[in-house]
Amino acid sequence: MLSISTHPLIARDLTVLRNRHTPPDAFRRALYRVSQLLAAEATAHLELRDCAVESPMEKTEGWILEHPVILVPVLRAGLGMTDAFLEVIPEAHVGHIGLYRNEETLQPVEYYAKYPEALVDADVYILDPMLATGGSAAAAATILKRQGAHRIRLIALVAAPEGAALMEQEHPDIIIHTAALDRGLNEKGYIVPGLGDAGDRIFGTGSFSA
Ligand code: PRP
Ligand code: URA
Repeated sequence: MLSISTHPLIARDLTVLRNRHTPPDAFRRALYRVSQLLAAEATAHLELRDCAVESPMEKTEGWILEHPVILVPVLRAGLGMTDAFLEVIPEAHVGHIGLYRNEETLQPVEYYAKYPEALVDADVYILDPMLATGGSAAAAATILKRQGAHRIRLIALVAAPEGAALMEQEHPDIIIHTAALDRGLNEKGYIVPGLGDAGDRIFGTGSFSA
């Protein structure tokens, strides 16, 4: 299922992110702001457990998260969203999955994986700005499910219909939170209109950096 944000501040910052002239520092800041807003939307369902808290005035009821939260940025570009999520959910633990897309076959290649224990009981958020063919996100979800994760959401800044369809086919249980559903993919598998190569734009590498 695709949840497309209608937040006006996300629409404003997505314009900054799409702009080919936005340099990496401004790109990172806009991605941080959008990620915080997406984090608020994607965590609205989290279960709470009540607890006691003492205010300066008296004892009253408080709330803590019922389940642990685990963030899993997909390297590299998912790193650009991680600090924003940690700002909103400071108690979250962070796993990492290293995947890159073979530019010829467009198939994901796994090169790293390290995640916290307790995936089974956790609310897990896969962070990756781009859902293009969907190969990387689907592979990340498969890796995490193999480790026992079963409450997973995907946070993708921009999604292509092809990637959304692959996720629906392979992981229909996973809700995808995105800022935009774009038109499609070009012949090289890039999202159009998209924003270029997210990793390059965050880190100032490659031909997509301003
Ligand atoms: C990008 C992006 C996703 C993937 C999306 O990573 O961050 O992980 O491509 O494409 P897909 O949906 O077709 O799999 P990339 O392979 O460029 O690696 P990088 O972040 O290390 O540059
Ligand atoms: N990866 C990116 O970073 N951008 C795209 O448009 C597609 C895959």
